[in-house]
Amino acid sequence: MSLRSDLPVLWSLLRGMGGSGDHAARLDGFYAGQAEAYDRFRERLLHGRDELLADLPIAAGGVLVELGAGTGRNLEPLGARLGQLAEVHLVDLCPSLLAVAQRRIAANGWTNVQTVEADATTWRPARPADVVLCAYSLTMMPDWRATVANAYAMLRPGGILAVVDFTLVDEIVASQAGVAKQPAVLRWAWRRWFGHDGVHPDMRLVPHLTANLETVHLSVHRGRIPYLPLPAAYLRFIGRTPG
Ligand SMILES: C[S@@+](CC[C@H](N)C(=O)[O-])C[C@H]1O[C@@H](n2cnc3c(N)ncnc32)[C@H](O)[C@@H]1O
Repeated sequence: MSLRSDLPVLWSLLRGMGGSGDHAARLDGFYAGQAEAYDRFRERLLHGRDELLADLPIAAGGVLVELGAGTGRNLEPLGARLGQLAEVHLVDLCPSLLAVAQRRIAANGWTNVQTVEADATTWRPARPADVVLCAYSLTMMPDWRATVANAYAMLRPGGILAVVDFTLVDEIVASQAGVAKQPAVLRWAWRRWFGHDGVHPDMRLVPHLTANLETVHLSVHRGRIPYLPLPAAYLRFIGRTPG
């Protein structure tokens, strides 16, 4: 990876997410200039996605929905399991990233996968979902609680919500995940740093998920951020709805 190939992404990150227009317009303004370089850079930034997908309990014939799916990159680690699914819906508000997903679907000949340009807080599939995936998307959604509620509503009884995302680690997250809490100054610094790019890690996400779902897996890790000396914390969660 060279600095030169990272430049479009670094430029977008330095400019940050603009404040004008609605949420969809702000997302597209942020991602349009970096859509082609998105996947390459995020492989070094968005950690834990492959591990979450490897652990995902999803059976043949199932319905998978990814909310905030971006380029559809997360389907590749599913390997042969993807072809056995009945329906896969990639939901996102950003047309620039969905265009990359559409090319990926065509290149791989995935006939069971469709992209949906829609808001994750409200869109639902016609059939109940077996698995809903949110990979680094909830922190970019101003109303992440509405998206989580929408995920619960679209899941069948006993369905799975799987989340991987950046987090801050206060006493509650630390005690639930069995890790050390971050000093308050570090949490403040990460909140500022992420916020510039429209990413808002919320310590209330972990207790919200564990209070509403049976926890199948919860862990918190530290992952490297390209060009920064400090690793950031991210969570992996798999939960099951009552059923
Ligand atoms: C950091 S990207 C993650 C994309 C993908 N899940 C991945 O792992 O690479 C966050 C995604 O959430 C999408 N997003 C943010 N708010 C959304 C909303 N309300 N509805 C649908 N998608 C949304 C963004 O457009 C973006 O594609």
